[in-house]
Amino acid sequence: MLTQNLQEAYNKQLNKEFFSSYLYLSMAAFCEHIGLPGAANWMRVQAEEENFHAMKFFTYINERGGRIELDAIEKPQNEWKNLLDIFECVLKHEQYITKSINDLMNLAMDERDHASVQFLSWFINEQVEEEATVSDIINKLKITGADGQALFMIDQILA
Ligand code: FEO
Repeated sequence: MLTQNLQEAYNKQLNKEFFSSYLYLSMAAFCEHIGLPGAANWMRVQAEEENFHAMKFFTYINERGGRIELDAIEKPQNEWKNLLDIFECVLKHEQYITKSINDLMNLAMDERDHASVQFLSWFINEQVEEEATVSDIINKLKITGADGQALFMIDQILA
């Protein structure tokens, strides 16, 4: 059985993961709009992955006898300056999610909920991977300058 504190924190995280999916979907729509189908596909895949994260929390709350409470999903940003701006926004958002997962882990440890510590470890590793991938893309965009031919190539790589 989950403690009340953990149940509330998990429900908040569930909402953040659904918002993440929504944000990536908004980015996918924008990339499509500015003629970057490869980047749009990358964002779509991320959106699905975030939905998978949300459902992992959904399943876990249920498994632990918790009560799920779905909240409204905030409207995501829907316009950016360019592809670099989008990926800088992605990195900032993932850093925010990493902090949120770390806070959840701290709470699980405070509550001495060993099963939660185990469950959250997967997310801790996942965040390391996500931040590294996005930082790598940002570096590539900065090196190439990402306009004209370079942008076309990066879009193909992202596809
Ligand atoms: Fe569910 Fe990208 O963190």
